[in-house]
Amino acid sequence: MAEYAVEIDEVSKMFKLYHENVKSLKEKVLFFRKRGYEEFWALKDVSVSVKPGETLGIIGANGSGKSTLLKCVTKILYPTSGKVVTNGSIAALLELGAGFQPDLTGRENVYLNASILGFSKKEVDKRFDEIVAFAELERFIDNHVRNYSSGMYIRLGFAIAINVDPDILIIDEVLAVGDEAFQRKCLERIEEIQESGKTIIFVTHNVEITKEICSYVVMLDHGSVVKEGRPREVVNYYHQVMETAEEGSERGDRRLEILGVALLNEAEEPTTVFHTGQPMKIRVAWRANEPVTDPVFGFSIDDYRGFTAYGTNTRLKGLDLGTLTGEGFVQFDLSSLPMLEGRYLVSAAIHSRDEQTIYHWLDRHVPFDMKSDVDDAGLLYVPTEIQVFR
Ligand SMILES: Nc1ncnc2c1ncn2[C@@H]1O[C@H](COP(=O)(O)OP(=O)(O)OP(=O)(O)O)[C@@H](O)[C@H]1O
Ligand SMILES: [Mg+2]
Repeated sequence: MAEYAVEIDEVSKMFKLYHENVKSLKEKVLFFRKRGYEEFWALKDVSVSVKPGETLGIIGANGSGKSTLLKCVTKILYPTSGKVVTNGSIAALLELGAGFQPDLTGRENVYLNASILGFSKKEVDKRFDEIVAFAELERFIDNHVRNYSSGMYIRLGFAIAINVDPDILIIDEVLAVGDEAFQRKCLERIEEIQESGKTIIFVTHNVEITKEICSYVVMLDHGSVVKEGRPREVVNYYHQVMETAEEGSERGDRRLEILGVALLNEAEEPTTVFHTGQPMKIRVAWRANEPVTDPVFGFSIDDYRGFTAYGTNTRLKGLDLGTLTGEGFVQFDLSSLPMLEGRYLVSAAIHSRDEQTIYHWLDRHVPFDMKSDVDDAGLLYVPTEIQVFR
């Protein structure tokens, strides 16, 4: 097997930006053939190697060159200098709608797309039902793709890309277009693809996702690699540069310190998957590095967008903890989780009663997944009975 699945070697890409501000006919005639242009370097000496089985994340601000780099890997664009070597079959999910013929039906596009990726009609026949089922487009598969919503485009594109079983899967952002349930389904499938040893290159603005799925992350800025390495480090740097709040950050003077936060199921076992309607215990282990009087312990559960689903604390519940010394834990018993499927993050905090002093605050620190046995729509499960009068 080749050492690298993808080798990007000192790739630079220049675009010519033409000046269209010719003023008069005379000038037009005079400057005919001499239309001025400016060189714009969308990529400058980018080198990245991806080993088979690795998942590379590429992050960076708008216009930093991420899509241009992916296009060089998929050979939609050719570098101005440098080279890209790939080993293995590639399926790419690039910008919205790229690769679909709007005047063909979904069905026809599946065959067309897969044939471009090197699949015979027979092979597509075998996979067709699974592609359509994954895309959840059974009802629409014989409609013209022109009438698809952007989410439907992406569903179909992703379903094709993963079902043709490429050695290298390239995904540009697009997942963000799908709804939450579809995104989650895609991420689960990406995990399966990773487990089967395939190589993935993944561009996203949801940098927290790269921490979950990438083995290596590269950050681009104005066409150059400004940071690369372990996802955590690169994402931290990204947050510094972009001045966005970081998931998993902590603060506080630590006079009272959170030693750990455990999520426990009914049987008091640490768990990362909970089902709708199940209880959860959030156990916050603490240590008083000096005696602290009247602290307040709290937690919140946020979804991946940062919306707080629920939160409370010992003050709101009327508890007075007195003076804490030594070590112990505070346990929040949630009798029934109402959230439907999705990824959530638990924050835990210890602060003074007036919230002026933060002892220790772990922001969106412990992730967990909600699973649901019901197919109901929305964020929360609301027990509903239906009566029909006629
Ligand atoms: N065909 C082109 N001609 C001229 N300039 C281009 C072309 N394609 C991209 N660019 C420029 O190259 C730069 C990098 O674009 P690119 O699409 O790679 O950014 P990106 O990192 O994918 O951004 P985003 O986060 O918005 O998707 C941008 O300034 C863009 O305007
Ligand atoms: Mg882009």
